[in-house]
Amino acid sequence: MAILVTGGAGYIGSHTCVELLENGHDVIVIDNLSNSSLDVLDRIHTLTNKKVTFYKGDLLDRTMLETIFTGHSIESVIHFAGLKAVGESVEQPNRYYYTNLMSTLHLLQVMDKYNVHKLVFSSSATVYGTGNLMPLNEEARLSAVNPYGRTKLMIEEMLADHYRSNQAWRFIVLRYFNPIGAHPSGMIGEDPAGRPNNLMPYVTQVAVGKLPELNIFGDDYSTHDGTGVRDYIHVVDLALGHIQALKKTAEPGYHTYNLGTGQGYSVLDVIHTFEEVNGNPVPYRVQGRRSGDAAVCYADVEKAKKELNWEATRGLQDMCRDAWRWQVQNPNGYQKARSFQSN
Ligand code: NAD
Ligand code: UFG
Repeated sequence: MAILVTGGAGYIGSHTCVELLENGHDVIVIDNLSNSSLDVLDRIHTLTNKKVTFYKGDLLDRTMLETIFTGHSIESVIHFAGLKAVGESVEQPNRYYYTNLMSTLHLLQVMDKYNVHKLVFSSSATVYGTGNLMPLNEEARLSAVNPYGRTKLMIEEMLADHYRSNQAWRFIVLRYFNPIGAHPSGMIGEDPAGRPNNLMPYVTQVAVGKLPELNIFGDDYSTHDGTGVRDYIHVVDLALGHIQALKKTAEPGYHTYNLGTGQGYSVLDVIHTFEEVNGNPVPYRVQGRRSGDAAVCYADVEKAKKELNWEATRGLQDMCRDAWRWQVQNPNGYQKARSFQSN
């Protein structure tokens, strides 16, 4: 029996594939490579000495999904595939609703047809509305402020409705806080296309000299140093959370869990830790606030601790060290590694 990983060539998916293989699972990946590279699969192989079965395909293509379910005995699905850029979702709402919702509907239809009812879904802390008390527990008020966030919220509701209609389903919805860092080998990591939107890849690209300076979006929030506070989680801890989530699918149900550390750090905390751990300066300039940003966001992680027997063990120093190792070893991500190989 195998685990099907949608979007398994992506940032979080690739780290999860490594942990799945190391835990003895057979892994099948479907990915259209719209935001990832085939090189990831070679890296996973080198790291684990095991291979995933790979299908280059789109979840919007139902026939492709049927081929996979016909050809393999699939036990559970981990569903990472989707579009995830907040700004792009505001500019292209139709593409975001169509891709994220239709992909998930196809997946649910095909899973049901082949009698596979265990699904772990990648949701996000972005589903928590504003005005909640920190730390955010799973019962906090939900509301999203952009199309990307609304697709996550809608998918959560779709899954809950499927469970209400058929209690054979086992859904584990994981709300990620801010995943950063990379595998400690430096072999796999985050490879954003173009200029990064998120803090850590921006920091590493400034530190390596690809970008001149970091823009800090606001230093007038009511936080300990005025900059925004987030719950950064090491991507390997996050990947391990999926292994625990899979175990939870042994029983029917619909469950949501926060995956974070429970600890908030400001933008300046991240910069200072990065500089301290890696010995590289990160020049920055304070700009105005970025629209849509919350001042503070961090998780209550008790439910995952108790029910999934999972908690993050890697700290901010590990995240900064591993993000930097990945950046140094792969200055231009997977693309550069590929052109080195062909030269
Ligand atoms: P990613 O873009 O690196 O990975 C997603 C993968 O899915 C990519 O490899 C992409 O090529 C593939 N894909 C996209 N659309 C597809 C489709 N229609 N068919 C097949 N493959 C498709 O993103 P990630 O950071 O690894 O995120 C994984 C999941 O976690 C996403 O659902 C994302 O919304 C969610 N999430 C990410 C974060 C974060 O900060 N990275 C935070 C919260 C939630
Ligand atoms: N920030 C900067 N400069 C930058 C980038 C970010 O100062 O160049 C600041 C932001 O203002 C924020 C913090 O760094 O205070 C973190 O910002 P990110 O863009 O890294 O992350 P967000 O918390 O805004 O959002 C991320 C994902 C969302 C996801 C959310 C919760 O981008 O998709 O985490 O999981 F929903």
